[in-house]
Amino acid sequence: MIQTNRFDLTPREEIDAMSTVNKAGLEDVVVSTSDICFIDGREGRLIYRGYDVDDLAAQSTFEEVVYLLWYGALPTKKEYDAFYKTLSATATRKLPPKLVALLAKKTTPMEVLRTGVSALSAFDPDDPDNSREAEIRKAMRLTAQMPTLVAAWERIRRGKAPIAPNPKLNLAANFLYMMSGKKPTELAAKTFDVALILHADHEFNASTFAARVTAATLSDMYSAITSAIGALKGPLHGGANEQVMIMVDKIKDPAKAETWIRKAIADKARIMGFGHRVYRVEDPRAKHLRRLAAELGRQAGDESKVKILNTVARVMTEEKHIYPNVDLYSGAGYAAMGIPTDQFTPIFAMSRVAGWAAHVLEQHGNNRLIRPRAEYTGATRATYVPISQR
Ligand code: CMC
Repeated sequence: MIQTNRFDLTPREEIDAMSTVNKAGLEDVVVSTSDICFIDGREGRLIYRGYDVDDLAAQSTFEEVVYLLWYGALPTKKEYDAFYKTLSATATRKLPPKLVALLAKKTTPMEVLRTGVSALSAFDPDDPDNSREAEIRKAMRLTAQMPTLVAAWERIRRGKAPIAPNPKLNLAANFLYMMSGKKPTELAAKTFDVALILHADHEFNASTFAARVTAATLSDMYSAITSAIGALKGPLHGGANEQVMIMVDKIKDPAKAETWIRKAIADKARIMGFGHRVYRVEDPRAKHLRRLAAELGRQAGDESKVKILNTVARVMTEEKHIYPNVDLYSGAGYAAMGIPTDQFTPIFAMSRVAGWAAHVLEQHGNNRLIRPRAEYTGATRATYVPISQR
């Protein structure tokens, strides 16, 4: 077989000879290998490092899942204790006071998180070091500090002083404590922990891909996570959980949900919390979040949100065959814990940082620059006309 040298081809022929992506949005394009996470979109299964997320949600803890994602295996008791101790230490969780002073008043929580994470790099002694050991230390600090940042901002914008982290509480319970100043109920702390487990990773979703693209330039952990937070913010990705609650607030009354959703479908509206690029069935995370949101709603004496969502889901499934994703029920649970809607996406990020960091570690472990091509469809022979003659 005669091998054609790409430099013998015209630029057009060269592009034609490359593998071109037929569907927009890189749909169904496999861009890399990864050992971290597998999604079975037909069966509705999600696997972290070989473990079904259903089993992890039932039996594991967020801290253990973070370890699993970063180190590739479940920890022994000794490894877990050492890891947990560092992750929950006040020294790892606390924010540099100068960072808190940076937080501007009229900013959304997601913008505060994006800017705060970026700024935290300036305070990290490991920042320029991209060795695996230093990256794990940075990931540890980010995972521990992001909840402190989210909670501190919530307090600051309400005119209250931030609450110092409590090293006796796990990450989930400590976050709820730092938000409200009260130790959470067992159900709230457990529900929040499970929500963190369920959001921790999801293969090459948009924010993770953004993190990997940034990491692949041999940029650092903070830059990669900042890129990821920017990508997560959009309503087609993590921002959908906030949009779901805005929809619920518009519907208000469960008795009006059916009419509302039928009209929205007739109007060809995009309904947040539904649909997925990979799942052809219900997202496996949705069933856990539905159950937990229902339990919390019952405990808080407000079941209306979950009732509204159940009706919307029934009609979407019957009429459109489009199924709930992870973002449909998460917010109803957070709302029952008294968390404001615009904190839902920052909470998603507090969990997904575990996956983002695992992907940065994997990318740096076997790196090649991610630099695809575009199929150019613009003009090629435009004649330059000086501005004075245009
Ligand atoms: N509501 C109404 N129609 C929908 C929806 C939806 N939520 N999702 C997909 N469709 C329809 C869409 O209109 C299109 O129909 P047609 O072929 O007749 O034009 C078809 O399904 C395919 O949609 P698409 O937008 O091309 O599919 P995609 O794979 O590019 O998008 C998605 C995936 C998640 C962006 C999309 O389903 C969506 O916009 N969902 C709402 C936002 C949302 O919930 N995002 C969270 C995603 S999961 C968690 C996360 O990543 O954070």
